[in-house]
Amino acid sequence: MWGSRLRGTYTHRMSGIDASRVRTRHFAQAKAEGLKISALTSYDALTAAIFDEAGIDLLLVGDSAANVVLGRETTLSVTIEEMITMARSVAEATRRAFVVVDLPFGSYETSAAQAVDTAVRFMKESGVAGVKLEGGVEVAPSIRRIVDAGIPVCAHIGFTPQSEHSLGGPVIQGRGAAAEKLLADALAVQEAGAFAVVIEMTPAAIAAQVTAELNIPVIGIGAGAGTDGQILVWQDAFGLNRGHKARFVRAYATLGEQLVAAARQYHEDVIGGQFPSAAESYEDN
Ligand code: KIV
Repeated sequence: MWGSRLRGTYTHRMSGIDASRVRTRHFAQAKAEGLKISALTSYDALTAAIFDEAGIDLLLVGDSAANVVLGRETTLSVTIEEMITMARSVAEATRRAFVVVDLPFGSYETSAAQAVDTAVRFMKESGVAGVKLEGGVEVAPSIRRIVDAGIPVCAHIGFTPQSEHSLGGPVIQGRGAAAEKLLADALAVQEAGAFAVVIEMTPAAIAAQVTAELNIPVIGIGAGAGTDGQILVWQDAFGLNRGHKARFVRAYATLGEQLVAAARQYHEDVIGGQFPSAAESYEDN
């Protein structure tokens, strides 16, 4: 199995969730004790093993894969089958982190029964620990049914990329009077049984207020420092994505630039006859 070959040794965690395998109860404990939750996206076995080794608490196989893996303009076209393939590789390579997969657009909106069927399929075919779906009040009945089926659900409110056409693009949600809707959405998904909620692109003060009102953890992206945790798309966080950098992204590395330099060096070594060397070649006995 991929996981057993890829898993490494673990570094000491300074403070945060103390668990050899993160479960939903640890997120509840973290909320109660004021511990911050770290989360990143992952779409493949190698990064999953690396982020797991680094101590990231939650790995999301996000439908942002449509953008950062498949090169598509929006998240709308990614399929259940594409997501299952990626989710399985992440789940198999992970030992500690809680792995969640996004239910893709079109796989849960028709009815609560459709939502349960899709969630069950992901659990059976990918080995993840939970699912995430976008929306607030309107998806609460589906969240309830999925939770009743024994599947942990992470909700996602604020800017919800699957609705980007109706929202008018990636615009900040919850400003002014819209703060009330945001709070109503947050309370609805909590009431429906979600174990956590992602809140995306909202004013920091509103996200902090939602965080204070809820008793489930709120994980922010572009929602300021007052939430219970943070999530970023890994290609943004580590500088592999060299396109537009949103204000809320901090790039902890410059992997894109490093890869260009490394690939250029490889190209030059190949065309100049410097690679491979004798030490990088097999002898005949
Ligand atoms: O798909 C995704 O990567 C997400 C995060 C931005 C939260 O939903």
